[in-house]
Amino acid sequence: GHYKTRAAEASSEELGVEKYLQLFQLSPEMLQEVSARLRKDLLRGLGKHSHHKAPVKMLPTFVRATPDGTEKGDFLALDLGGTNFRVLHVRVEEEAQKVLKMDSQICAIPQEMMLGTGEQLFDHIATCLGDFLESQNLKGKTLPLGFTFSFPCEQLEIDKSILIRWTKGFNCSGVEGKDVVQLLKEAIHRRGDYDIGSVAMVNDTVGTMMSCGYRDQSCEIGMIIGTGTNACYMEEMKNVKRIEGADGRMCINTEWGGFGDDGSLDDILTEFDVEVDKTSINPGVHMYVSQLFRIITPPPFEKMISGMYLGEIVRLVLVKMTKDKLLFKGQISETLGTPGQFETKFISEIEDGLENAKKILTELGLDWDPVDACVVRLVCDTISSRSARLCAAALATLVNRIRNNRKLDHLKTTVGVDGTVYRKHPTSKLQKAVRLLAPQCDITFLVSEDGSGKGAAMVTAVAQRLAHQFPVILNSSDLFVSK
Ligand code: GLC
Repeated sequence: GHYKTRAAEASSEELGVEKYLQLFQLSPEMLQEVSARLRKDLLRGLGKHSHHKAPVKMLPTFVRATPDGTEKGDFLALDLGGTNFRVLHVRVEEEAQKVLKMDSQICAIPQEMMLGTGEQLFDHIATCLGDFLESQNLKGKTLPLGFTFSFPCEQLEIDKSILIRWTKGFNCSGVEGKDVVQLLKEAIHRRGDYDIGSVAMVNDTVGTMMSCGYRDQSCEIGMIIGTGTNACYMEEMKNVKRIEGADGRMCINTEWGGFGDDGSLDDILTEFDVEVDKTSINPGVHMYVSQLFRIITPPPFEKMISGMYLGEIVRLVLVKMTKDKLLFKGQISETLGTPGQFETKFISEIEDGLENAKKILTELGLDWDPVDACVVRLVCDTISSRSARLCAAALATLVNRIRNNRKLDHLKTTVGVDGTVYRKHPTSKLQKAVRLLAPQCDITFLVSEDGSGKGAAMVTAVAQRLAHQFPVILNSSDLFVSK
């Protein structure tokens, strides 16, 4: 009893694990510094000449307005890049100010397909969509389609979007450098039994912002903390130097996961973060290292924050502590010794309570004592806190930028959020750190209701409204992109 309670309250110092965890504990000054570095990188990404070398890509999305509540119609939505591939039928109702999900279907993407050819992947997508249309009696309808494709894309128009590189475990050949809309249309035409209407390409961050924007018109930021991490926000057109035109705003997909790709965060990377690059990152699956070559060196910021890597970082810390005889009587179980076997979801489960922690340690085949369980909780808490606080630093950079852009002393704004890591963890640490780093901003967090599905439909609906109201806005000659 007494011994257990004491251990549960012990600090890393008392437990003798201080030296392993210290480097993960970023001071407020360091977070401020991270935020300042990102502030500079945002500018590099937006700049005409600095862009091509910029680690934070700041990609134009061609989304120029958030919903105004007059949008309506029936839409299809595709969602690729999260946990599952989904097809949806969505209805946007003007009178009721509602976005309704009429129906949806999940299609698994087998592991081989994530590493196969692009043609196979898009044929699979076209088949899933075809089956769905068939089952919903929608085959003859030619509905407009919002495609949530949550990878970094150079968007040239709302319906022309070139994949820059795969992330998050995907590596299909023949897709990087190609227009994803074209690949989708070609696959549909190869079948020839149905067609789709106009297409809008959507990053999940944008879908998240838009689905929240329908409920709260001051939502001008979308943030994802899930398998990957990223955010988008409304930027002044005059600052988007790669696109002509200085009026109004455009939503920018920051691709902040790439922050640090040029080495700018090397001073805060721990040995464990570096080691993640060398191990397989897809839970329970052994993949060919050659195919994973680029995926196994994930961008630093995404690596320290997102669900794809957090579990593995914790595992590597625990392995090291065990080897140094600080845990589990020096005995590493086979499961703990295997890359990818410590799932990110264990982190929040372990943080939830000591009993959970013990259950999971037993499942991992470890011979633990009460002190071990406390140390493991401390490790989980340290890694997830770092994730939350780094994310806060980045979010603070965005809200401060919006405030400065508008020359406001005080900004009140809403951030639409989604992602398993955000949903599963207490958000107090993130909120506290943002308040500290952006004291002049008052932020409301709104968890998105299916941004990748309903949000994609909203983007498509807004694009249609604008095309109807101001046809010139979506005229491609007007949207000349200088390279
Ligand atoms: C990765 C992708 C990005 C996406 C994020 C969240 O960072 O590159 O486009 O928004 O994951 O899914």
